Amino acid sequence: MNNKLFAVVPAAGIGARMQADRPKQYLSLGGQTILEHTLERLLAFSFIECIALPIANHDAFFDGFYISHHEKIHTCAGGSERFESVLNGLNYLLENGAKVTDWVMVHDAARPCITQADLIHLYQSRSEQGSILGVQVRDTMKRTDEQGNVISTVEREQLWHALTPQLAPIGVLKTCIDECVAKGKLVTDEASALEFCGLQPKMVAGHPSNIKVTRPDDLMMAQAFIKEFQ
Ligand code: C5P
Repeated sequence: MNNKLFAVVPAAGIGARMQADRPKQYLSLGGQTILEHTLERLLAFSFIECIALPIANHDAFFDGFYISHHEKIHTCAGGSERFESVLNGLNYLLENGAKVTDWVMVHDAARPCITQADLIHLYQSRSEQGSILGVQVRDTMKRTDEQGNVISTVEREQLWHALTPQLAPIGVLKTCIDECVAKGKLVTDEASALEFCGLQPKMVAGHPSNIKVTRPDDLMMAQAFIKEFQ
């Protein structure tokens, strides 16, 4: 029998760098929130059986959206770090019918411009060692010292920006994150946990519009991309 596909969308961050009056996933982008856009785009990818959505315990926004009643969306507790939110999402899925051999796509709530083409490419490239969307570095890369003086040029060949979704078998990803936690290794994204455990996730070239809304300027870019790229 084919393994199923699930998603975890960590949405428990505060988004302090946005300097807004609410967590950034609840900022408006062309009439609806960033989180609603993100969830709609994942729901449009019909291979996804259900979405685990870790949100903050004190979240005062999500319940008010029409999408909070969608049968494929299930909230669970967020954590104080992104990887804790992801772990909670994985545990939720495993406690509610998912198998360790099923697949999971982890996608940041703050990336509303994910395209269907990228979801398809990533899913088609699934690998037991994981796979992630990325964008190849275009600019010349510099390293500076702490005072901001350029000290070297970094070779940009085979250098990528890591995006999400990142896809792996649920059991493999959970084991790797658990191992990182046990050994005190910082987990910045899912691939970093897989790499730490000796795996080599596959890089899948994604569309550069899949930005993470992080700073106020990003909202304007996301506004343009969301209209242009489905
Ligand atoms: O803060 P950053 O942009 O790196 O967060 C990436 C994603 O992880 C966001 O969607 C955010 O809501 C989520 N996150 C989370 N739990 C945290 C911190 C971040 O779910 N404790």
